[in-house]
Amino acid sequence: MDTIPSARSIDPPLAPETLAVHPWATAAGRPRGHRTLNAPLFLTTQWEGGDLPELADHFARNPDRGFYTRFGHPTVRLAEERIAALEGAGDALLFSSGMGAISTSLLAVLRAGDHVVAHQAIFAQTIQFLEHLSASAGVRVNFVDATDPRQVEAAIRPDTRLLYLETPSNPGIDILDIESLTRLAHAHGALVFVDTTFAGPMIQRSLSLGADLAIQSASKSLAGHADVLAGAVAGGAALVGDIRKMRVLTGPSLDPHAAWLLLRGMQTLPLRVRAQSETADAVARQLEASPAVSHLRYPFLPSHPGYEVARRQMALGGGMVSFAFRGGLEATRRFVNALRWIPLASSLGSVYTTLEVPEELDFALEEIGDRAASFAMPAGLVRLSIGVESRDDIERDIQRGLDAVESIIPAPHALAERGG
Ligand SMILES: Cc1ncc(COP(=O)(O)O)c(C=O)c1O
Repeated sequence: MDTIPSARSIDPPLAPETLAVHPWATAAGRPRGHRTLNAPLFLTTQWEGGDLPELADHFARNPDRGFYTRFGHPTVRLAEERIAALEGAGDALLFSSGMGAISTSLLAVLRAGDHVVAHQAIFAQTIQFLEHLSASAGVRVNFVDATDPRQVEAAIRPDTRLLYLETPSNPGIDILDIESLTRLAHAHGALVFVDTTFAGPMIQRSLSLGADLAIQSASKSLAGHADVLAGAVAGGAALVGDIRKMRVLTGPSLDPHAAWLLLRGMQTLPLRVRAQSETADAVARQLEASPAVSHLRYPFLPSHPGYEVARRQMALGGGMVSFAFRGGLEATRRFVNALRWIPLASSLGSVYTTLEVPEELDFALEEIGDRAASFAMPAGLVRLSIGVESRDDIERDIQRGLDAVESIIPAPHALAERGG
């Protein structure tokens, strides 16, 4: 293909808001002349070669641009290049789900005998996969509370190959200090992976904070419309190259049509996360004012134990809030039943405001049983994902829920009068 130089060489560089929109702005080479304004969608799993040496040469030079779709695909590649640009990464890869990205990346770097230190309260199925590697592949795993760097330091050993973080964490919204934990891990020769699903590249640049790999479930904020299942990793070219080789073997390549929807969704990522963060900040303060709320986590609330770190490493607070009531699960049920339009749903990060009660809805938590209990989520924890609807409508519906709970919970002054 006859190409002109990448728009990546424009000086001063284009801003993320621009890179997120133009498919060719982040491509390695832009086709000359009549290129499409929108990303092209090639519905093919195979490419023809002119002759044998030509096909072999093309594949050797462009393993990710088209030969057989499990190896790589041009529409998928445009999405990967955009993610690499937004993350400030040497390279990026897409997968058919976030778990495809996580499992393939772990398999790419871990060998029998390697040791992993992981934050204890991360996405339940990531815990399950690490436990599977520990049971079946000779990988040893320690789960620690990485909000306390001393616990990480104490757990690191000479054979520690990887520190696995997730920040903000799902569902508890723990904030982990990427920069100082990375310094610690690197001093011992360990790699650092960060699952950044709750923040994403517009909010948290994990690689510029030192991490080796930024992982996300692109099914969430990146795609943003609850219609795409995808996972992404971004990092240095050598590490991403190793993961690409493992992706060929494990096979969770992204379907080109899903990649096209992801490219479409990402165009509004900067706008969505700004709107979601503004509304989530307001809703967090609304929840904080309620006497019924006993536990509340939002990164940009000064009451969050990780507030200082969040302010340092996040540009915005993000769209996720988690909270619980005095009155536990029963109170949560009352809250949920009083809502008029905000639905319970299984996932997060989209244009829709939704909520989940992990204790009741997340079957994976049951499967990690004792470990889930070991980091003790407050009873009836609600994980609220703020969408892009009217802030007034969202606040009104949340208030319906709060009124229903407050009506059955004695106000603090009433407790004090009774000596409670
Ligand atoms: C933090 C986090 N990591 C990974 C995943 C897995 O992503 P997927 O559902 O796209 O496989 C999720 C999904 O909820 C998540 O919240």
